[in-house]
Amino acid sequence: MSYMIMAVFLLLKFAYSSSPLDDFIFNGSTMKLDGTAKIDSKGLLMLTNSTSSRQTGHAFYNDAIQFKNSTNNGSVISFFTTFIFEIVPKYPSLDGHGMAFVISPSKELRGARPAGYLGLFDDINTGSSSNHIVAVEIDTFKGVEFDDRDDNHIGIDINGLKSIISASAGYFPAAKNGTFKDLKLKNGDPMQVWVEYNGVEKQINVTLSPINVTKLDLPLISLRRDLPQVILDTMYVGFSTSTGRLTASDYYILSWSFKMNGEAEQIDLSRIPKIPQPSQKIDREPNAVLEVSFPFILFLVLLLVSLIGGLLISRKKFINVLEDWEAIDQSLGTEYVVEEAELVLKLGLLCSHAMAAARPSMSIVIKYLEGEAKLPDNLSDIIRSQILDKPQMERMCH
Ligand SMILES: *[C@@H]1O[C@H](CO)[C@@H](O)[C@H](O)[C@H]1NC(C)=O
Ligand SMILES: *[C@@H]1O[C@H](CO)[C@@H](O)[C@H](O)[C@H]1NC(C)=O
Ligand SMILES: *[C@@H]1O[C@H](CO)[C@@H](O)[C@H](O)[C@H]1NC(C)=O
Ligand SMILES: *[C@@H]1O[C@H](CO)[C@@H](O)[C@H](O)[C@H]1NC(C)=O
Ligand SMILES: *[C@@H]1O[C@H](CO)[C@@H](O)[C@H](O)[C@H]1NC(C)=O
Ligand SMILES: *[C@@H]1O[C@H](CO)[C@@H](O)[C@H](O)[C@H]1NC(C)=O
Ligand SMILES: *[C@@H]1O[C@H](CO)[C@@H](O)[C@H](O)[C@H]1NC(C)=O
Repeated sequence: MSYMIMAVFLLLKFAYSSSPLDDFIFNGSTMKLDGTAKIDSKGLLMLTNSTSSRQTGHAFYNDAIQFKNSTNNGSVISFFTTFIFEIVPKYPSLDGHGMAFVISPSKELRGARPAGYLGLFDDINTGSSSNHIVAVEIDTFKGVEFDDRDDNHIGIDINGLKSIISASAGYFPAAKNGTFKDLKLKNGDPMQVWVEYNGVEKQINVTLSPINVTKLDLPLISLRRDLPQVILDTMYVGFSTSTGRLTASDYYILSWSFKMNGEAEQIDLSRIPKIPQPSQKIDREPNAVLEVSFPFILFLVLLLVSLIGGLLISRKKFINVLEDWEAIDQSLGTEYVVEEAELVLKLGLLCSHAMAAARPSMSIVIKYLEGEAKLPDNLSDIIRSQILDKPQMERMCH
């Protein structure tokens, strides 16, 4: 009799521990991809590539995962995940926007916006408790509207993009008295992240390190938070990335291991795939400056010419000029629509305003360029608001 019980117990234990719903190691299959995400023949997951503009990429593990313990008042079960990512910016100064490890009720994230929204939320639902999303953001863009601390940080996001807690990227070396070491997320080196939740202590820890440094004792960020209101009974786990209008990077997941109620399997570093042509990344920088400022400079020149002429060009005339110019400059492609050119012209106007206080800061200019804020039709509104709440940030065209 006791043998029977033991056998049943072992069977149950086996069924439990080998259940694909509780732990897995990413191996290139069993993923639901959308947007720009794709997996190549070697199992390398690329979430977005640096030639995409205002795109999102999602990759979720196909099966839902049981996150709550029904025999324990629906408490959230401990979980543990570790993954290796690599960010290769198109141009180091214009990388973006970031990526996130996501726990979500659905594999779709429909309507989620690119750029600063990281493909997680849209402008209406960010911050809403009905999202039921927990994310660890690896953010390489300083989003003013989300109170980002810098353009190189890790944060824990619950239901919205304003992180509950965040820290500049880096790690505490294993030695007890080791001083904090900064890391640059977007330097094209693979890095490893650990996300651990202890369901008893109700604490979530996030640790970051270069891949040649073994698991560290001290997490980069640690948050005490009971998650039952956020986490539903079953959830999906995966990754999200986004690119902006000007900012983009190649985002890769090289390896990923996940486990409920236990420590996820170690990643075998000798088996992680290599990303294609990683060495190209540095020497393209000078072009970046040209590529971005070229339209700017051109439009400023256009503007000056028209001002010197003593005439304010009409919208219609401007569009004609623009179309001529577009025909000449093929390199900007079809993406460069009239609307965007108008935006650049308006920003040029603002930047060259006679009154210094009326000129927008660089971060605000980028916000408009990235499509994260709509420039008011009436420029005098924005000039007035600029002067009223004179921001402390660096001025654009001083
Ligand atoms: C990949 O992992 C899944 C379970 O997560 C498994 O069913 C599948 O056989 C694996 N494929 C390969 C090629 O190892
Ligand atoms: C990059 O992504 C775009 C879609 O956004 C796709 O059309 C293009 O082929 C991709 N390029 C590479 C090199 O994968
Ligand atoms: C669920 O809760 C019960 C009762 O507290 C406990 O015995 C069991 O180990 C828990 N299961 C998991 C997967 O945490
Ligand atoms: C279960 O939850 C209820 C309501 O949230 C609470 O009153 C009760 O103390 C909990 N029981 C345990 C064992 O945690
Ligand atoms: C770190 O601690 C060790 C002893 O634990 C000591 O020998 C060493 O000098 C300390 N280093 C620093 C930089 O404080
Ligand atoms: C989180 O880190 C703290 C140390 O800062 C540690 O005491 C705690 O056990 C860790 N929790 C988890 C879930 O790893
Ligand atoms: C890890 O690699 C980086 C460069 O690849 C090197 O500078 C650093 O010293 C290495 N650290 C360890 C602990 O091996």
